[in-house]
Amino acid sequence: MITTEILSQIHRKLKNNFACGKILPDTYLKTQAAQDIKRKLCACFVSVDNKTGLIQGYYTLSSNSIPIGIVPDNYKKQLPYSYSSIPAILLGRLAVDSRFKGLGIGKMLLIDALSRSYEISKSVGSFAVVVDPLDEEAEKFYFKYGFILLPDSRKMFLPMKTIGKLF
Ligand SMILES: CC(C)(COP(=O)(O)OP(=O)(O)OC[C@H]1O[C@@H](n2cnc3c(N)ncnc32)[C@H](O)[C@@H]1OP(=O)(O)O)[C@@H](O)C(=O)NCCC(=O)NCCS
Repeated sequence: MITTEILSQIHRKLKNNFACGKILPDTYLKTQAAQDIKRKLCACFVSVDNKTGLIQGYYTLSSNSIPIGIVPDNYKKQLPYSYSSIPAILLGRLAVDSRFKGLGIGKMLLIDALSRSYEISKSVGSFAVVVDPLDEEAEKFYFKYGFILLPDSRKMFLPMKTIGKLF
């Protein structure tokens, strides 16, 4: 398994070395994540390699909601009519440094994020974990783990009930 810690001042220099091969997630960690944490827009978790001290990967979590109109019918049936949107947790970013790709780090970070989200859902209602894949490659990665495409949106979701069965 992997150990994750909250991104903090101690990672200040380390995060400048992070390179997953895609500009958006790299720039986000280097320039925006700390500010978003301060503004309470997200929580950011990193895993640090014991040997090299490098950041292997990171992910972010935030509160979110899904408009009822884009929830697939088979899930909508389970929901009360009075809800115009349903509560969710957004796994906003997930990236692995290229030096650590293909070693199962992405999968372990995803499991860590899902397990953390499941724990949160016990105290703050959250119907699903939502992701916003960067591109087709990222979509394939999430598809592999059972995420379902939300129609008319590039977002994908995994119901918390399904996640609960994993832990
Ligand atoms: C997508 C990403 C997180 C995968 O990280 P990784 O550590 O290389 O992935 P893992 O080694 O944990 O792979 C786990 C499994 O997913 C598969 N996988 C990895 N990347 C994949 C992709 N892009 N599409 C489909 N499957 C993928 C692996 O083959 C592996 O399958 P297996 O268990 O059957 O062998 C990483 O490539 C990355 O950071 N990409 C850039 C940022 C990004 O696109 N993030 C996605 C969210 S927006």
